[in-house]
Amino acid sequence: MYKILMTYDNTEGLGALLSNKEFQVEIHNKPSQEEFKELIKCYDGLLIRSEVKVTADIIEAAQNLKFIGRAGTGVDNVDKDAATKKNIIVANVPGGNTISAAEHTIGLMLSLARQIPEAYKSLKNKKWDRKNFVGTELFGKTLGLIGLGRIGTEVAKRMSSFEMKVIAYDPFANSESAKNNGIELKSLDDVFSQADYISIHSPLNDTTRGMINVDAIKKMKDGVKIINCARGPIINEKDLSDAIKSGKVSGAAVDVFAKEPPEDWILIETDNVIVTPHLAASTQEAQVRIAEEIGDVLVDFFTKGLIRNAVNAPKL
Ligand code: MLT
Repeated sequence: MYKILMTYDNTEGLGALLSNKEFQVEIHNKPSQEEFKELIKCYDGLLIRSEVKVTADIIEAAQNLKFIGRAGTGVDNVDKDAATKKNIIVANVPGGNTISAAEHTIGLMLSLARQIPEAYKSLKNKKWDRKNFVGTELFGKTLGLIGLGRIGTEVAKRMSSFEMKVIAYDPFANSESAKNNGIELKSLDDVFSQADYISIHSPLNDTTRGMINVDAIKKMKDGVKIINCARGPIINEKDLSDAIKSGKVSGAAVDVFAKEPPEDWILIETDNVIVTPHLAASTQEAQVRIAEEIGDVLVDFFTKGLIRNAVNAPKL
């Protein structure tokens, strides 16, 4: 019998795993790091979303752990090097929420262009104000994507139908496939200087952390709008807030934050910033798809020795 610890409490889509007699799944919802360190000692497998940080300390404390499954895309909350050193597989579900994240990005882009949240708030307050909510069209504008993986590509495909010009920076992108999707690959500085809308779709790593800061913003067009549904720490929140207050950036839509839940509210409290609490991947369809896939990956790993969706390569 394999013991699996889940640190979130949504079991939808995990039916096959939960009913499998070879597994005993226990849920401890959002444990503190202290609790987590104690709990992890006796489990063979771990299923997480973004509610915990699997640090080197946690991995060190684990005595039987062989598998960490991330029900989602981003694995920046797992110390992969520490896992690799202990021969623990880290696996994720990279494609399950692509469409959801792309659609949320587009929702935020339209909300920014047409000030939908502000107009909604105003009318709910019984004000019939049409003058202050004159928007702008997306048609003919340049969308600059930073990161052209699955989500960036789906955003690009959809925004081409709005007749936006789509340019992208991604050092790992395949130029042929970008071209086939109507996307022009550019340098980062060219994306900064040419885009009317900049949407971030890169993973968080040492290169992207703090990438959107005061120096980057200086290179952007006056009045640019910025959307971030990727990871909060890619943006320096104070620099973005200052740039919006000065008018250099005319608006931002942000789904992800430096700390979640936020500890510093500076960006959230800034006018012309639309915010959602890390909802881009939160659709019923994506959650079920992801749960089913990570459940299968976990079961196959323990029962058949099959390694799928691994993001590290320990010597097993
Ligand atoms: C992901 O990386 O899968 C999404 O951002 C959702 C999440 O972090 O839970």
